[in-house]
Amino acid sequence: MKQDLIVILDMGSTSNTVLARGIRDLGVYSEIHPHDITVDELNALKNVKGIVLNGGENRVVDGKEVEVRPEIYDMGIPMISVDYPQSKCKTQLSELPDMETLKKFVFEECGAEANWNMKNFIEDQVELIRQQVGDRKVLLALSGGVDSSVVAAMLIKAIGQQLVCVHVNHGLMRKNESESVVKVFRDELHANLIYVDASERFLGKLENVADPEQKRKIIGGEFIRVFEEEARKLEGIDFLGQGTIYPDIIESGTKTAKMVKSHHNVGGLPEDLKFELVEPLKQLFKDEVRACGVELGLPHDMVYRQPFPGPGLGVRCLGAITRDRLEAVRESDAILREEFARAGLDKKVWQYFTVVPDFKSVGMKNNARVFEYMVIIRAINTIDAMTASVEKVDWDVLEKITQRILAEVGNVNRVCYDMSPKPPATIEFE
Ligand code: XMP
Repeated sequence: MKQDLIVILDMGSTSNTVLARGIRDLGVYSEIHPHDITVDELNALKNVKGIVLNGGENRVVDGKEVEVRPEIYDMGIPMISVDYPQSKCKTQLSELPDMETLKKFVFEECGAEANWNMKNFIEDQVELIRQQVGDRKVLLALSGGVDSSVVAAMLIKAIGQQLVCVHVNHGLMRKNESESVVKVFRDELHANLIYVDASERFLGKLENVADPEQKRKIIGGEFIRVFEEEARKLEGIDFLGQGTIYPDIIESGTKTAKMVKSHHNVGGLPEDLKFELVEPLKQLFKDEVRACGVELGLPHDMVYRQPFPGPGLGVRCLGAITRDRLEAVRESDAILREEFARAGLDKKVWQYFTVVPDFKSVGMKNNARVFEYMVIIRAINTIDAMTASVEKVDWDVLEKITQRILAEVGNVNRVCYDMSPKPPATIEFE
């Protein structure tokens, strides 16, 4: 292993991630593990230079205070405890340690080296993946989103043709998105990629379905069915690659913290298709995943793309999806993205997209009255997507986008800009 490791044991703290980020900021890799980790599990982590017992307000689970296994004190690894009164460590601090204390512990007491960087992280993960997988095969649902793309690139580096990627085009992708997945992964990275064009199947299932929750259920459920059908055609697959990242794990709940929201990638596969998981990014934060993607040589656009909801354009073509409105969403979104990039706003604005409602308004074209759709532009900034503010887009940029949409997108006679912050509005419309 290339990197030294400081292990944070979660003894009920709410600041595990802050601490992990703090140690990584010092250039030393840090991972968070549950309080009841065993000596064998710790030994298997390799290069563990120090352990932080990180206590806090969640220290009582099922009526009992969480405790570290006593054998861990005898491993000879330097330990420090934070807000964990019953610890037997010689260094105890009651609150989150300041940078100076952390530095002293990490470098002086543990003797760790500042050797955490993406190059070393990738080399370590490649070695771990090869150890786990051997000469067997891994299946990966490659949506083309940041996380699944970075996992794919990492797995290609580690096991090449033993990885089988399945890209399901549900017909609700942005313009040229599926084409770019095929271009990057099949043509450039020479991945073993199965491309499934399931557009007609999805659009058929969604016909006349107007309820947003119902639409999401159909898209999610159908995705799993298509992926399952492809998986059943393949032989000798033992592993499923997943783009799980650290925030997904926290939100799904840990042994001391409650669930925020359920995390599901391809979680709905049937019991008889049980795979062992390969999750090489599960200790990374989003910005680190992007840095990892860059180091692995993925195109900048793919790594720094804005978030895109799983149900895709399906939740931006409001109400029951029709092909003409879906086309209007896709084309107007492409124009918006082009013009934002031209104005440098793609690097500044967190998320921007268009939606097309399912009603028409009156307008004039070629001196005749027309009833056509409207395109709504939304551009917001946020830190965590829990609240959001509207970007004050320059008037000239909005005018240019409006002119292009009205001239280039069929069945549209009106363009609006959404001025609503979150709350009370959400970022998406459905
Ligand atoms: P809302 O609309 O809840 O969106 O304010 C917050 C963020 O989540 C994204 N989003 C989704 N992402 N599947 C996803 O993967 C979904 O069903 C979904 N719905 C919303 C949204 O784009 C925004 O970034």
